[in-house]
Amino acid sequence: MALLDILVYPDPRLRRKAVPVTEFDDDLRTFANDMAETMYAAPGIGLAAIQVNDRRRVIVVDVSENHDDLQILVNPEIISSDGSAEYEEGCLSVPGVFAPVSRAEQIRVKGCDVDGSPVEFDADGLLAICIQHEIDHLNGKVFVDYLSRLKQDRIRKKLVKEYSNPAEQRPPLEDTAHGAPL
Ligand code: NI
Repeated sequence: MALLDILVYPDPRLRRKAVPVTEFDDDLRTFANDMAETMYAAPGIGLAAIQVNDRRRVIVVDVSENHDDLQILVNPEIISSDGSAEYEEGCLSVPGVFAPVSRAEQIRVKGCDVDGSPVEFDADGLLAICIQHEIDHLNGKVFVDYLSRLKQDRIRKKLVKEYSNPAEQRPPLEDTAHGAPL
């Protein structure tokens, strides 16, 4: 197990589009476990492979309170969606920033598990939000893209300033006023 480095917005590598996984091997299993470990350590409730500079279509999510409901989804897609819900989102690649985003309230998800077996299920609530957020990452999209141009510029400037010098004190990822980053 290893902790992976998480790319920080506006890193251009967050804009890359992930490619479908075709090899369900030990390397994929190790990588998915490392992603889960990285997500829990951050701490966050979701992580996409693109965020750790890997182009495979893999996401990990766990929205449970006790961190005991890990889902590893490979090649996930949303095959239907319904309703709309607004949630104050954060992101492990956009540390310290939270903003409301409107997404589908209910979704039906199709994909594979880490062994390549097909999975299909319905999700709602925070799980639905989180899966949509992570699939966006696989398509090179970050939640700040949904915000106004002005807000995007402010966030970009703030993070470039904070993260350009690695020796500088970084803001804590944990923010008790908000939920965990996605
Ligand atoms: Ni995110």
